[in-house]
Amino acid sequence: MSITRRKFLQKSTLMTGAALLHQAGHKESVLARPALDPNSLTPFVDPLPIPQLAKSEGMRPSPTNTAVKIPYYRVAMSAFETKVHRDMKPTRMWGFGGAFPGPTFDLPGGQEVLVEWANELPQQHFLPIDYSLHGAERDKPQVRAVSHLHGAKVPPHSDGYPEDWLVPGKSGIFHYPNQQDAAMLWYHDHAMGINRLNIFAGLAGAYILRDKQEQALRLPSGPFEIPLIISDRMFDKDCQLYYPVSDKVEAPWTPEFFGDANLVNGKLFPFLEVEPRKYRFRILNVSNGRFYRLSLSNKQTFHQIGTDQGLLAAPVPVQKIVIAPGERLDLIIDFKDAAGSRVTLNDNFARLLEFRVSNGSVKDESVLPPVLRIIEKLQESAAVKTRRLSLDEVDDLVQNPVRMLLNGSPWHAPVTENPRLNSTEIWEFVNPTNDSHPIHLHLVRFQILDRRNFEAFGFLARQQVRFTGPTVPPDPAEAGWKDTVRADPGMVTRIIVRFEGFPGRYVWHCHILEHEDNEMMRPYDVLPES
Ligand code: C2O
Ligand code: CU
Ligand code: CU
Repeated sequence: MSITRRKFLQKSTLMTGAALLHQAGHKESVLARPALDPNSLTPFVDPLPIPQLAKSEGMRPSPTNTAVKIPYYRVAMSAFETKVHRDMKPTRMWGFGGAFPGPTFDLPGGQEVLVEWANELPQQHFLPIDYSLHGAERDKPQVRAVSHLHGAKVPPHSDGYPEDWLVPGKSGIFHYPNQQDAAMLWYHDHAMGINRLNIFAGLAGAYILRDKQEQALRLPSGPFEIPLIISDRMFDKDCQLYYPVSDKVEAPWTPEFFGDANLVNGKLFPFLEVEPRKYRFRILNVSNGRFYRLSLSNKQTFHQIGTDQGLLAAPVPVQKIVIAPGERLDLIIDFKDAAGSRVTLNDNFARLLEFRVSNGSVKDESVLPPVLRIIEKLQESAAVKTRRLSLDEVDDLVQNPVRMLLNGSPWHAPVTENPRLNSTEIWEFVNPTNDSHPIHLHLVRFQILDRRNFEAFGFLARQQVRFTGPTVPPDPAEAGWKDTVRADPGMVTRIIVRFEGFPGRYVWHCHILEHEDNEMMRPYDVLPES
């Protein structure tokens, strides 16, 4: 196999040269088609929707101990229409429970549940399938779906393997043990080769796990704890979702999607009325490819208390914070000093959500504790193996990306990553491309060790890593338990993982959905303990 890779142009920590080029490319293709300009709409006329809570439909025997009855849920995926903005016509979407975002699961830790995911979608897709992608060929049904619970420690048969998709009319019952620390997980479609389209259509929702340790902290809760599920989309003149295509009719895949309309909980420019007190915001980026840099318009400091896999050791004061696709943030914002004003949550210069802070003062009994929990640092000396894994972009002759790979291997190549259950490994992601790739491993949580610049040209020529700078520790914002990590361009990013849970087949992949759908995903095996 000959791999040509694009020249390494420049490095920056986040939105990179290539990403911006791709973005510009998208803009061109969009100009050819009449698009809705979201900035022509009046902002902040719709209240922020709060997704409904998922409701159990009774009790059923646990698959691991039939004497025990556990809650059973049924969530259907279906097509529906919804108004994204007061002045837009209804938009067709696909979602769980007839909504985007789907219903939020809110469960006490350790409470195992059964969820029946039912595919009640139409037989035809409404977004542009690329039949040249592996797993999406013309002999496959157009509409396929399989649910994955991102960040969950689940047995392999309930993990939502990308090839285990179901067609409309079928459903699968998954078992979630929920034996893990309190965290905001999320569920989404994972069907091979069309995942980017299914999630873009709206197939995603939040899944919150609690525990006693977290409850004892007296963080803002109830009406003062709010999920913010953020995504970018693009709309055509008829207010319908628009997913851009390449200029190749037989290969419409585009390397990344960036939209100009940012939705929060499915609304464009919503507002939220808040009291002058502390709130807890559970933030999730379900965008295909966009990284958000969040800040508040009044430049006030807020606190990050958690990341993907739950609470940090201590709150981190921040004014700007980055969230990549698939990542979560747990923030405390105190509106006490903003009483009577309007504050917007921004991404760089784009406004996402307006907080309308009421006047006066209120009694706030919630706490921002100085210490959140003890996070035991995984020791490098505990690792039995180090795997060096490259992140690869394969280009055509004019340097357009045509495919992405992990360690030079496509999806269907034999499994190469096969850690033993309960062993600790270090995985090093070598990124000679221009993009930051959010790398996600199913089943496990991990810690980031460090990042380090290396000489990308030399690596592409000789496959040898020559470092050009010192190791950089993770940001304080990333210094907790993670399940998705930014592998920044021109850097080697190292994580340390203990493979706890279950033996079996899982996957690891880039969470830029366009990359994931075009070979930047690999199966991995957790081998039984020896
Ligand atoms: Cu968000 Cu494979 O997962
Ligand atoms: Cu996942
Ligand atoms: Cu990627």
